[in-house]
Amino acid sequence: MDSTGRFLLSLVTAATFLQVRSTVTVIGLYGETIEVPCNNGAAKPVDLIFTKWKYKMDDGTSGDLLVKQAHKEQAQIQAMDGYKDRVTIAANSSLMIQGGSLVDQRTFTCMVVYGSNLDEHPVDVLVHKKPLPPQIKDKAKELENGKLTSLGVCTAADANPAAVIMWSKNGKLLVADGKTIIITPSVKMDPSTGLSTTTSGLQYTAVKSDVGAKFTCTAKHSLETQVSAPETFIIHYPTEKLSLQVLAKAPIREGDNVTLKCNADGNPPPTSFYFSIKGQKVTVKDSDTFTLTAVTRNSTGDYKCSLVDDDKMEASEKVVVSYLDLSLSPTGKVLKMVRDTLLVKMEQDASGDAKVSWTKDNRKLDETPRFDNVTYADAGFYVCEVSVAGIKRSQSFQLVVEGTPVIKKMTEHHSEDGRHKVLTCEAEGVPRPSVQWSVNGTNEENSYINGKATHKITVVPTGNLTITCIATNKLGNHFMALNVSSLIKDEKIPGKGAQDDSSDQALLIVFIVVGLIIAAAFVGLFYWLYIMKSRRGTWKTGEKEAGTSEESKKLEECNAKV
Ligand SMILES: *[C@@H]1O[C@H](CO)[C@@H](O)[C@H](O)[C@H]1NC(C)=O
Ligand SMILES: *[C@@H]1O[C@H](CO)[C@@H](O)[C@H](O)[C@H]1NC(C)=O
Ligand SMILES: *[C@@H]1O[C@H](CO)[C@@H](O)[C@H](O)[C@H]1NC(C)=O
Ligand SMILES: *[C@@H]1O[C@H](CO)[C@@H](O)[C@H](O)[C@H]1NC(C)=O
Ligand SMILES: *[C@@H]1O[C@H](CO)[C@@H](O)[C@H](O)[C@H]1NC(C)=O
Ligand SMILES: *[C@@H]1O[C@H](CO)[C@@H](O)[C@H](O)[C@H]1NC(C)=O
Ligand SMILES: *[C@@H]1O[C@H](CO)[C@@H](O)[C@H](O)[C@H]1NC(C)=O
Repeated sequence: MDSTGRFLLSLVTAATFLQVRSTVTVIGLYGETIEVPCNNGAAKPVDLIFTKWKYKMDDGTSGDLLVKQAHKEQAQIQAMDGYKDRVTIAANSSLMIQGGSLVDQRTFTCMVVYGSNLDEHPVDVLVHKKPLPPQIKDKAKELENGKLTSLGVCTAADANPAAVIMWSKNGKLLVADGKTIIITPSVKMDPSTGLSTTTSGLQYTAVKSDVGAKFTCTAKHSLETQVSAPETFIIHYPTEKLSLQVLAKAPIREGDNVTLKCNADGNPPPTSFYFSIKGQKVTVKDSDTFTLTAVTRNSTGDYKCSLVDDDKMEASEKVVVSYLDLSLSPTGKVLKMVRDTLLVKMEQDASGDAKVSWTKDNRKLDETPRFDNVTYADAGFYVCEVSVAGIKRSQSFQLVVEGTPVIKKMTEHHSEDGRHKVLTCEAEGVPRPSVQWSVNGTNEENSYINGKATHKITVVPTGNLTITCIATNKLGNHFMALNVSSLIKDEKIPGKGAQDDSSDQALLIVFIVVGLIIAAAFVGLFYWLYIMKSRRGTWKTGEKEAGTSEESKKLEECNAKV
């Protein structure tokens, strides 16, 4: 018998050899068709006459259900009660009971009549039903730390046999100890259906670590073990530790808003706190924060918070406000005369070690600038920058150096062609001096670089001249004279030095003589070539004559110079 179908078949009482009949138990499902096999589903005897199903009625007597003659197609229903419409017989002689319910939990007997024999096969039928999914009801709103509280009631309804309920916390079975955990189980049977509802009340003593713990109940049943949806509970416990938090970006600077937050580890958290602000007690209700707006260096100190109902529970935190004051003298635009003294004074007051740096026109200086004797080069934009953790301040001054013009240099040069003179006058001074020569010239050039004004003109002096250069600005003027000699006189200078050049002239004579000898040699060579060529008649006379006349001219020139 391999095809028991959806039906559970088990041998409750082993057949004894002494007894012909063996009692078999079959478990059917509530609400479904129950198959009651005849003789464990054994094959029908060949000489079968008829099969009959009987049942044990509520009063203990036997009632007939149906009879199936071996040679007939249809079985004859004999039942008069509720079974009349619910029973049929399968081809393999199994009794099929539709819409199984708990009333079907009784003994059915299959009677097989064949040849001259009669066998009876009684079967005990049980009807099982799994409970509805278990549910936790009457849940506690919150659990008090250390207090035994009714957490909830778990219900597994309408089962047969009754389900068994167990409680778990985070998947771990809770075992009743009669003190911190009390479990009250109960089973009630519905008299109309006969189904049982199991309930289990859990009384539980919560501890702080039960925050977030998942409580479940499990309904254990032969057909299926089901677990309820998990439940978590709010657990109330008193504050054990207080901490004060400073909510501000570090470092805290003057002008920042600093929020103090008092954190209590109790549940529910306290709704009011005391904040101790510089020795003053402030009560804060419905909040755990207190904000210090625009703190100053005077705000530096210890801050405290405590519980309103237990001021021994206290936390404190230090608040340090960084600050930096910088005062620079002078600032803004500073006007100084050359060679003046400028005193630079920088004062700073900071909450920590301040870093000071100076720049002049964006270039870093190695030290604080000192001006005992101001020069034009000192002019510039000076920035002093001071910083401590998180704070940076800078101040600056623009140093302007002024002075009356001073002529630094006057020069005269020959122009490249030797026919002019270039006069240059250089004068220092701020504001820009106007530089002029006392004569008019051409190719006038002016420049003003780093406080130095340059004026350049080209002149043609006709005689010895005394020329003045004058440099003028709003602060004063400066002039200087320059003796400029005439160009004619200048050309004579090499003539004067002729005796010095006598050795050069001797060298020139030597060159000319050597040149004449070479020329004579060439003349000889040409004459010979002419003789040779004229025999062939190809030389032109004009060319030769021109060459000779040129040579003689050169010769004459040389002789004249010597
Ligand atoms: C008997 O027949 C029924 C219906 O044909 C079938 O569901 C069942 O499995 C059979 N039982 C046995 C024990 O063979
Ligand atoms: C500080 O708080 C005040 C008022 O709450 C606000 O006006 C101000 O902008 C805040 N200052 C800063 C730096 O956040
Ligand atoms: C800090 O306190 C001192 C006196 O204690 C007071 O003179 C000063 O003005 C205060 N400074 C600020 C920035 O509040
Ligand atoms: C300032 O410097 C100039 C040139 O460097 C010098 O001639 C003059 O004596 C100095 N004056 C003082 C007061 O040091
Ligand atoms: C320079 O030229 C201007 C006109 O171009 C004239 O008025 C002035 O007198 C001249 N100066 C001298 C020194 O020749
Ligand atoms: C220029 O001065 C020099 C001396 O410095 C003198 O010998 C010469 O004769 C002068 N020339 C004229 C044209 O005055
Ligand atoms: C220019 O020459 C005059 C005389 O002709 C003389 O007195 C003066 O010192 C000279 N100046 C310069 C700068 O050489």
